[in-house]
Amino acid sequence: MNLNSKIAIVTGASSGIGAEFSKMLVEQGAIVYGLARSEDKLDAIQQNLGQNFKPVLMDISNAEALEKWVHSTFTNKHQPDVLINNAGVAYFAEIDRLKLSEWRAMIDVNLSGVFYLTKLMVPLMKENTSHCHIINIASIAGLLGNPSMSGYNASKYGVRGFSEALFKELRYHDIKVTAVFPGSIATNLFSDIDSVEEHPNMMQPSEIADTVKFLLETPDNYLINEITMRPLNPKNPEQ
Ligand SMILES: NC(=O)c1ccc[n+]([C@@H]2O[C@H](COP(=O)([O-])OP(=O)(O)OC[C@H]3O[C@@H](n4cnc5c(N)ncnc54)[C@H](OP(=O)(O)O)[C@@H]3O)[C@@H](O)[C@H]2O)c1
Repeated sequence: MNLNSKIAIVTGASSGIGAEFSKMLVEQGAIVYGLARSEDKLDAIQQNLGQNFKPVLMDISNAEALEKWVHSTFTNKHQPDVLINNAGVAYFAEIDRLKLSEWRAMIDVNLSGVFYLTKLMVPLMKENTSHCHIINIASIAGLLGNPSMSGYNASKYGVRGFSEALFKELRYHDIKVTAVFPGSIATNLFSDIDSVEEHPNMMQPSEIADTVKFLLETPDNYLINEITMRPLNPKNPEQ
């Protein structure tokens, strides 16, 4: 896909890798609708990226609000080409300490939010005569379970199953679906979680955005349906 003039939706655009995806897409000439709950951060990103970044104040776990926005924004003359389901939250605790509110937040945002928005985008993408691409940002936690991560793991394994099914369902409609499984990235996702050891060799958001650009720019009949990325040397044994 040539990203110039394409219409993209990025959830979780207010920080971390979502902000970096938005920058990469605007730099390639795309129009980006960036969804998140933090108005101030979205506005600051628009100041930086210009009018082709369109801030959308949205909680993606609110299915009704998403439906209203999609129906008032897109038509058969203004159709989405790219959807990056990126917004996510993480709470880590052993099962007997994981709060119900934390479990619900991870399932509501990381999994149900992906379903709500994708369900609304797919009919528009099916009508689009150009090829479209849905990218779901899962995590290495969608492939490997670990102690204290049961809720996060469950939500991200869910994203993997959802993506695998959709890739097979939508390929004959010229809609690509890719699930992305990154290891640790230097963002604020885990900053409130004491048990997560941040380290100097985490991957950089710009590196993940470069890979997503590559995925989007592959030839029309060439699909990378899953991709895993890791820091080569996450914890230098000398440190
Ligand atoms: N950092 C890592 O090591 C890592 C590794 C693998 C996968 N991931 C995945 O990468 C994705 C992005 O995370 P990040 O690392 O860039 O963390 P981040 O900087 O904390 O970004 C998370 C984004 O999600 C948005 N968000 C959270 N809840 C939302 C909601 N209900 N509605 C709309 N937006 C919401 C946040 O915006 P607001 O707070 O403004 O709503 C923020 O823009 C997540 O899915 C995460 O699971 C991260």
